[in-house]
Amino acid sequence: MNQPHLSQAIGRMEASPTTAMTDRATALREEGRDIISLSVGEPDFLTPPHVIEAAKAALDAGDTRYTPVTGTARLKRAAALHFERDLGIAADPASVIVTAGGKQAIFEALVATVSEGDEVIVPAPWWVSYPQMVRFCGGRVVPLVTHPHHGFRFAPGDLEALITPRTNWLMLNSPGNPTGAVYPEDMLQGIAGVLRRHPQVLVLSDDIYAPLNYTGRPHATLAALAPDLADRICTVSGVSKSHAMTGLRIGVATGPSWLVAAMGKLQSNSSGNPASISQAAAVAAFEGPQDFLADWRERFRARRDSVVAAVNAIPGLSCPIPDGAFYVFVDAAPLMQRFKDDGALALHLLEHGVAVVAASAFGGRDGFRISFAADDAVLAEAMQRIARALA
Ligand SMILES: Cc1ncc(COP(=O)(O)O)c(C=O)c1O
Repeated sequence: MNQPHLSQAIGRMEASPTTAMTDRATALREEGRDIISLSVGEPDFLTPPHVIEAAKAALDAGDTRYTPVTGTARLKRAAALHFERDLGIAADPASVIVTAGGKQAIFEALVATVSEGDEVIVPAPWWVSYPQMVRFCGGRVVPLVTHPHHGFRFAPGDLEALITPRTNWLMLNSPGNPTGAVYPEDMLQGIAGVLRRHPQVLVLSDDIYAPLNYTGRPHATLAALAPDLADRICTVSGVSKSHAMTGLRIGVATGPSWLVAAMGKLQSNSSGNPASISQAAAVAAFEGPQDFLADWRERFRARRDSVVAAVNAIPGLSCPIPDGAFYVFVDAAPLMQRFKDDGALALHLLEHGVAVVAASAFGGRDGFRISFAADDAVLAEAMQRIARALA
């Protein structure tokens, strides 16, 4: 319905389809239906106890006041340590901003830089919020289509073919949501070569899934591999996915000082500081033990392998093995004559007790995304339900 009070900016944006599917699954459950939700992007593991303790200690210490808008000095130091130790990026705490989740960092970076008509290259399938944020800013989304037979990765030449004088960002997400694509060092070097020829292009490197890399190779990221480009790269990370802290809403970003300052200006006039208790918890996450991450990674890898095997055993479904994150991007093209579109397919699966998200929500087609961040027995039951629903 046409609502005259809404701004043009909000009119260009749609609500997140992943959140919509999760809400729908929750509503059905509340009605008493037995629904397994594989639509949500959050680890099912418990938040590590040292993180919980740090949050409680902060509460007991009365740490309930405003903090500096862009984060406490302590957390900025801890985040700089994380960027250096885990991503290989030499980050000065002064060039770190703490946000309410990685999502806010990405939104602020785009709002601070994208003007009407600017072009933002977004590899597709994409994380649902990238195109919505670009449209909100008045920017034009330029899809860089990737394919399963190339591991959903683009080649440097594909990128260069889309760059114009109006291009101002490339969104780069490795390991990626929804495909699990991981860009190895040599591909990032190739991308860096293209970027050196186009100084107008900034890069949003979304490394939020960095610890969830099943390749056995260390995480590779552009700002570490191409320090000469660091003044054009905004690297976003956080604790939501790595430390099972989605509800605590802490993200961190580092980039050129002009950009971090602009993001801070926006934050100072909108959300203000991220929650003080959550910041104290995030310090513990970055400074505390990291050894549990290897165990979580192995458990996710085992789940990935069983879900991939189950998908490929169902007639009409197929998927490549994702190298990272906790999603499997399933192709269901051979089944599409049975359904109006992949939204109808996702609703059919929901009717059979499993919530997944249609591929079209991610700029893909004829398939769906499964999150395998769920217990083994739950995943096995979900895969049986999907098989029965499509039999
Ligand atoms: C690719 C990607 N980037 C960023 C985020 C945002 O994470 P956060 O919960 O820290 O805002 C998500 C969460 O789903 C994501 O999948």
